[in-house]
Amino acid sequence: MGYMAFKHVHLLFVGLTFLLFVVRSGGLLLGFHGVNKAWVKRSHHLIDLLVLLSALMLCYTLNLWPFYNSDWVTAKFVGLLVYMGLAGFALRRRSYAGLLLALLLLFYIVWVAINKQPFPLPMPTPATSGA
Ligand code: HEM
Repeated sequence: MGYMAFKHVHLLFVGLTFLLFVVRSGGLLLGFHGVNKAWVKRSHHLIDLLVLLSALMLCYTLNLWPFYNSDWVTAKFVGLLVYMGLAGFALRRRSYAGLLLALLLLFYIVWVAINKQPFPLPMPTPATSGA
């Protein structure tokens, strides 16, 4: 498989984790507890793992690695781990603030993916900051 194939697979799993997160959160808020059954939780964990695996295949094809040669890939990697922890916690404890934060984090990760930079503001570089 090549770059485009890995990217489509990555986007498919990204879409699925979005969908599962929104459906599980909606179920919690509206009181439909069926959407938070054990098999749904396990599928969500599996999909998150597949997001990470497909991401690592993309890292391999592009030779961009977290904590090594790409700040925005590092931001996405850390973002995904924090999202998984936060979403799990918020869905378990019915924390509405946690659910909102996890959703905002997902939007942030998509923003990073599209703009390929970790922050909205340009980072000062040694060459320009002293001028
Ligand atoms: C929930 C978590 C994630 C979301 C929502 C997400 C979203 C996206 C999106 C929307 C794109 C397409 C960007 C574009 O075509 O312009 C993309 C591409 C990519 N993602 Fe992710 N991603 C996630 C996790 C990760 C993680 C954890 C990594 C790295 C460890 C990663 C690495 C990449 C790479 C290398 C690309 C290809 C960029 C390119 O084509 O130039 N992603 N991701």
